[in-house]
Amino acid sequence: MSGADGEQKFGVYIHWPFCLSKCPYCDFNSHVRHAGVDEGRFARAFAAEIAATAARVPRRTVSSIFFGGGTPSLMQPSTIEAVLDAIARNWNVAARTEVTLEANPTSVEATRFRGYRTAGVNRVSLGVQALDDRALTELGRLHSAREALDAVGVARSVFDRYSFDLIYARPGQTPSQWASELKRALDQAGEHLSLYQLTIEPDTPFAALHAAGKLKTPDEDTARALYDTTQEVCAAHGLPAYEISNHARPGGECRHNLIYWRAHEYAGIGPGAHGRLDVDDERHATATEKRPESWLMRVEARGHGLVSDDVLTREERCDEFLLMGLRLAEGIDLARYTELAGRSLDPARIVALHEHGLIETTAEGRLRVTLPGFPLLDAVVADLAA
Ligand SMILES: C[S@@+](CC[C@H](N)C(=O)[O-])C[C@H]1O[C@@H](n2cnc3c(N)ncnc32)[C@H](O)[C@@H]1O
Ligand code: SF4
Repeated sequence: MSGADGEQKFGVYIHWPFCLSKCPYCDFNSHVRHAGVDEGRFARAFAAEIAATAARVPRRTVSSIFFGGGTPSLMQPSTIEAVLDAIARNWNVAARTEVTLEANPTSVEATRFRGYRTAGVNRVSLGVQALDDRALTELGRLHSAREALDAVGVARSVFDRYSFDLIYARPGQTPSQWASELKRALDQAGEHLSLYQLTIEPDTPFAALHAAGKLKTPDEDTARALYDTTQEVCAAHGLPAYEISNHARPGGECRHNLIYWRAHEYAGIGPGAHGRLDVDDERHATATEKRPESWLMRVEARGHGLVSDDVLTREERCDEFLLMGLRLAEGIDLARYTELAGRSLDPARIVALHEHGLIETTAEGRLRVTLPGFPLLDAVVADLAA
């Protein structure tokens, strides 16, 4: 698909599904294995799945690679290198490809950063989560704030580009506490920060505590004030939101995540990875087996771990385009929507949302959600997609 969001991009996502312990708020596909993990076996399976995917979508030029998890910073640098070699054997890799690795900010993991750089990683994203030791304990994290900041320091000295994540709207957190924590974080930030509101995910220990009244998240007004504080403090420090939870100096955006939000093509490799592949002019939504050992066995038996591979209908594709694109401050290209949908968005709905101050259109033909509209993003998307 061509479009006004630049040339067609192709990203590769690699999922490493293991963590040292399971954080009580997290519902990512992550597992704890006390018996150890056979990385050589995983590296061979990653290479096989990369080859199988490249057979379906050959001749792509990879513009970004993202090692996500789980905790990819538990992988040996040699495993990362083997995966990057497999990608380069099967596709062209653009000269300045962004290669990101998600890392937990412990001292042990920071010692591997130089090895990752040698292997080809050029950007790290650290899960700092909080700069307050009590909050870190409540979040079940294995690192202290000091240790996290030290890991950020190592990242800064090893990589040109780094980011870190914080979780806010934590139990009992006030806007003024958050403002001062965020300012301390911004003092250590490079070009990028991810700031997520704590979400109570179903079937997590936090969900059980929440249901039992033992974990109180901020009420709607406080959550709104925390969100507004986030926007103000970050914008004042030169890192405005370019996506609902992501902040960057202009040019410092995560190019890989932009692929998702701009509805470009990406391969999902590894246990529980999702992909979007364009085959014979149709967009396929792919997903692989989630359980690491079952994924390994599937790949070893069939060459890939796919458990679903669905062609998206035009309507599904348009809904996804709206859902992902409107998370971005730049919004969506209306001409690209019209090309995709074969019709334009309902003008009456655009006028109504505009009158409520929730969206705006630009002279360049883009439609975007306004700052006051962002906390109501789900409702805005549902209205436009209806
Ligand atoms: C795959 S995880 C993190 C990578 C790494 N394992 C770590 O924890 O440092 C990506 C990010 O999602 C965020 N996250 C995970 N669960 C969340 C939740 N329930 N609410 C808000 N943010 C969450 C955290 O900030 C986390 O760093
Ligand atoms: S937040 Fe990170 S370390 Fe914690 S369980 Fe999830 S993926 Fe693992």
